[in-house]
Amino acid sequence: MNIIYDEKNETFLLHTEKTTYGIAVVDGRYLEHMYYGASLDNADIRYLLREDENPGVPSANKRETGAFLDCAPMEFPETGMGDYRESAFCIRSMSGYRASELTYEGYAVEDGKPELEGLPATWGEKENCRTLKLFLRDRLLGARVTLLYSVFESSDAVTRSVIVENKGEEPFYIEKILSACLDMDDRGFEVLGLFGSWARERHVQRMPLGYGRQNIASFKGNSSHQEHPFMALVTPGTTQDSGEVYAMNFVYSGNFIAQAEKNQFDSVRMMMGIHPEGFTWKLEPGQCFTAPEVVMTYSSEGLGKMTRTFHDLYRNHLIRSPYLHEKRPILINNWEATYFDFDEKKLLEIAEEASELGIEMLVMDDGWFGKRSMDDSSLGDWYVNEEKLKGGLNALVENVKQTGMKFGIWVEPEMISPESELYRKHPDWAIQIPGRDITQSRAQYVLDLSREEVADEVYEMIAAVLRSADISYVKWDMNRQIATMGSSSLPDDRQGELAHRYILGVYRMQERLITDFPELLLENCASGGGRFDPGMLYYSPQIWCSDDTDAVERLAIQEGTAMLYPVSAIGAHVSVCPNHSVGRTTPFETRGDVALLGTFGYELDITKLSPEEKDLVKVQVEKYHKYNDLIREGDYYRLASAAENRYYDSWMIVEKDKSRALLFYVQVMARANAKSRFIRLAGLDPERRYEAEGKEYTGNTLMQAGIRIPAEFGDFKSRLIEIRGR
Ligand code: DGJ
Repeated sequence: MNIIYDEKNETFLLHTEKTTYGIAVVDGRYLEHMYYGASLDNADIRYLLREDENPGVPSANKRETGAFLDCAPMEFPETGMGDYRESAFCIRSMSGYRASELTYEGYAVEDGKPELEGLPATWGEKENCRTLKLFLRDRLLGARVTLLYSVFESSDAVTRSVIVENKGEEPFYIEKILSACLDMDDRGFEVLGLFGSWARERHVQRMPLGYGRQNIASFKGNSSHQEHPFMALVTPGTTQDSGEVYAMNFVYSGNFIAQAEKNQFDSVRMMMGIHPEGFTWKLEPGQCFTAPEVVMTYSSEGLGKMTRTFHDLYRNHLIRSPYLHEKRPILINNWEATYFDFDEKKLLEIAEEASELGIEMLVMDDGWFGKRSMDDSSLGDWYVNEEKLKGGLNALVENVKQTGMKFGIWVEPEMISPESELYRKHPDWAIQIPGRDITQSRAQYVLDLSREEVADEVYEMIAAVLRSADISYVKWDMNRQIATMGSSSLPDDRQGELAHRYILGVYRMQERLITDFPELLLENCASGGGRFDPGMLYYSPQIWCSDDTDAVERLAIQEGTAMLYPVSAIGAHVSVCPNHSVGRTTPFETRGDVALLGTFGYELDITKLSPEEKDLVKVQVEKYHKYNDLIREGDYYRLASAAENRYYDSWMIVEKDKSRALLFYVQVMARANAKSRFIRLAGLDPERRYEAEGKEYTGNTLMQAGIRIPAEFGDFKSRLIEIRGR
């Protein structure tokens, strides 16, 4: 029983293996938060609410909770009733009043987990998950709010979502609906987040939490390169294996906010949901709105435990692809090899050479359709450019297959070029505000996917291409963020729905794609890693991580990405040097080792490699086949971060049964007159004997004393060491 209701005390306790979450009903009407942290037994913890304490407000009156909401730990705070911290919920009546008073009406417990309509979400079966529903109602407007908590007992995760139903007689507007809120006392928390830019995604940043509000957000229409739908509050000094971590990650790909607020009483409110900026949703009587899901986890064993909780939850309960637990074909993508300058002969040359070296799939990137010869036209004209690909797509695919390779293709379904037949035919299909110039980015506009007819027509064009040849893989790209938000099909008072409706349209298209083409391997992408989030992982088992393929830059990008997402989801390729993004030259071996911490593939003109480099490709292909099962399914441990120490980076993957592990080490900067370094391993069985590079150790020695890594001459040198249990 992992959801316990104590009728006498009116409290709920939600238990996972190592955590407990507690909620109480106060005065028979308010929901307050009692506790989230390391496991408790089922003893009464209602005292944690401090119900008998004078909250410091100058009043000799008997305390009335309603008057002190501002210092109470609210479970789902709302606007307008006296809690002056950021609220999670705000509705506006037709007469313009912004307030609600949600009072508790009852609860239900279900085995498993309900689906969230139209949204990606984790799933759970009755054997591993139970759901608590708490029902609240605002009597004046007839809003019925259901708070959902799904408890994944063995994964130490609790997911949250909110459903609002209009049970009244008039419509109302939802102006804000966040999916999760967590009130607790401050413990000197620091805020941990992932920040970046195009080609510099998801770098780890940690900062102290001060008084006031600190948020991480996007209102760019996608989850963005810049900020990430993740926040953790950590206690001071938290490391990979010690310290307390409260983490939230949003299963959503559009505008979001994650916020931590510290107030006058040193209480901290942490919350996450759809960004309220520009958002309103009109709810007619009888209609429902479902807020996307937040995944929460608590760790008392540092960041490493948080990471492994997310990895396991996403591998077992989020990523649906049939390829999730499969070794993916090693692909070669022609983007950095040719950019737009290719024809069928060039592609075939690449395929022939690649196949000889053991590469298994050719991916034809941007530039095969309409009249596209650079990035300024043809998005929306999804038919093959036969001037470029003479003989057509099917002939090319068949010829590539003759070399023994599979074939994949790039598309960018969400966009429309002003210079395209589609735009000439349907200028109103672009997202725009009447009377204003549409902002252009990369010479393209964004399609209004809130309109089903738009999404359907584009989908059909792309599906026709996929049906016209034997295509095994699709890279779904999205190369700009959204501005001038307006839809010609929405009435005035529903324009605030567009950003969310757009994302629902993207989800609907991807759902169709993987349903109609169940064998397809889908890789999401957004100008590199601009939409690498759990929402997209629900549809595709892998996401292109960054347009920066430089092995050294990738260390920090992949470190941040792997802090949350399984390595099997991280799109990573070997490319040429000097690297196209930073001009750096790194050893070919290092590029291979860094790409192994991901899906692994190539992004270069293989016909131009030297014979020595081609030999190294064969070695890398062999390593991929040898280690991918372990890398894809194992437990990830971060051992050292060059982003912190400047000199070296190290991580390892350990087989679930601890029988085998792989250690990765990159000497980023060489130092003069340096000694060897001891790297302390993690995750092994301390009692077991292991063999590494011909020497024997106990797991205990490897973890406490470490393995010796010699200093090398030269920068950017990598080592990969297999550790085998005896
Ligand atoms: C951005 C992607 O990240 C690249 O890999 C490539 O597909 C280009 N778009 C093509 O336009």
